[in-house]
Amino acid sequence: MRVIKKRKEIPTVSIAVSGSIINNAQSLELATRLAGQIARAATIFRIDEGMLPPLDAPHHLRKHEWAPFREGVTLNEKLPDSGETLVDVGLSRSVVVNQALEPGIRVTVAMGTNRNLDGDSPRQVVSLSKPREEAGMYWGYRVRYASNISSVFEDCPYRGGYDHLIGTSEHGLIINSSELSLPTFRHLLIGFGGLAGLEENIEEDSNLKGKDVREVFDSYLNTCPHQGSRTIRTEEAILISLQYFQEPISRAMQRVQH
Ligand SMILES: C[S@@+](CC[C@H](N)C(=O)[O-])C[C@H]1O[C@@H](n2cnc3c(N)ncnc32)[C@H](O)[C@@H]1O
Repeated sequence: MRVIKKRKEIPTVSIAVSGSIINNAQSLELATRLAGQIARAATIFRIDEGMLPPLDAPHHLRKHEWAPFREGVTLNEKLPDSGETLVDVGLSRSVVVNQALEPGIRVTVAMGTNRNLDGDSPRQVVSLSKPREEAGMYWGYRVRYASNISSVFEDCPYRGGYDHLIGTSEHGLIINSSELSLPTFRHLLIGFGGLAGLEENIEEDSNLKGKDVREVFDSYLNTCPHQGSRTIRTEEAILISLQYFQEPISRAMQRVQH
């Protein structure tokens, strides 16, 4: 009697990646590198089929969209009122703001309620933090240079400093993201190392001599325990880890709101 074995169906996972991101690369070398990064991400997660929509941050508004705030750049053109400046905010027409500013400066403009771009009532330049404070809109991030890891902590721009520090590494503790309970925090910092990991960053910092990475960070976590590739590059680990931390962060933030 012939026994016909039923082939076991192996589950598959697909990702969607827009081919247009390749068009954004400035050279063939960068395009190849970008394709390689996506290929590595797919390998690490053991993805079966590859296809990602383009980056669509809320402050990267489209030409036809109306929002209470827009980012813009001041223009060179002179206006009759020397106390006003013309700003290109990415709409079909430039808007006038009620301040005299040098050309080429990036500004955040409060658009007000008047959608008529022909109207001559000037709009206001506001601080970069206003959209978030007033309208709860995510408005991008800032970049800070730190010469070593201790200055990352010490030169924290937020009052009171970071109150919870997480380090990431393949040598970290494995906790399921759904079981990870973060304390209520004000300013959370998640650290990513370079080629030789956060351990090396600490070893090379004279202010942290002799310290173990687990003494420096409140927790040290492995966010990708089932990696298919032997090493995860930092740019990949950022994507992986931010996805891993998304739910624990929102749970901790909800506690603050209630
Ligand atoms: C090339 S790895 C560094 C070397 C070493 N494998 C490690 O994880 O410490 C670069 C960075 O990616 C992140 N990383 C790599 N694998 C990770 C993992 N499984 N979990 C969390 N972070 C990881 C860490 O921030 C690490 O410092």
